[in-house]
Amino acid sequence: MVVVRRATEADAEAWLALGHLLDRETSFMLLEPGERVSSVDVVRLMLGCALDDAFYVVAEDDGRLVGLLGAERGEYRRERHKADLFVGVLQAYAGQGLGRRLLEAAEGWARDAGLHRLELTVMAHNARAIALYEKMGFVAEGLARHSLCVDGKWVDEVDMGKLL
Ligand SMILES: CC(C)(COP(=O)(O)OP(=O)(O)OC[C@H]1O[C@@H](n2cnc3c(N)ncnc32)[C@H](O)[C@@H]1OP(=O)(O)O)[C@@H](O)C(=O)NCCC(=O)NCCS
Repeated sequence: MVVVRRATEADAEAWLALGHLLDRETSFMLLEPGERVSSVDVVRLMLGCALDDAFYVVAEDDGRLVGLLGAERGEYRRERHKADLFVGVLQAYAGQGLGRRLLEAAEGWARDAGLHRLELTVMAHNARAIALYEKMGFVAEGLARHSLCVDGKWVDEVDMGKLL
């Protein structure tokens, strides 16, 4: 059974390994394979940050991390009411509701922390992710044309947001 739980500093090594795996497995996330330079120490610091500043969640199957989500709150007072999200689930576990469970956990944290808005960007051709975000109540707010260059091709990004 896959458990969705808050990540802790003890997950740093596995979090980083999952990040490397996702970079190789999907081109829907930001980094290219080999581009992730964070050290375990940096990830440990990130996962250990105050719950008031960010929320990191993992999906774990029998001790192995298979999905992750980060929700990072704005740093300055005028943006403290919102958090920026990123999410990734291993292909072998896609379509089993883990993305939804990770997002629900993030939304629960955001509501408890009194946040007013969640936001994210998603590649315009990432139909599965957009379908999930729309089901979770996110609304497309804009299109950033040629926002990324993926495998030599221009890719548009959709800005999505949800007011809580
Ligand atoms: C996008 C991602 C996070 C979704 O997580 P997931 O665990 O597969 O998602 P879920 O199973 O919770 O939900 C997916 C929903 O999309 C729908 N869906 C699945 N495949 C789809 C497709 N090819 N096209 C459109 N919708 C699709 C399903 O209907 C499902 O909704 P349902 O639960 O109501 O049936 C995950 O697949 C992933 O990490 N992909 C690679 C990296 C990525 O794209 N990250 C997001 C970058 S913004």
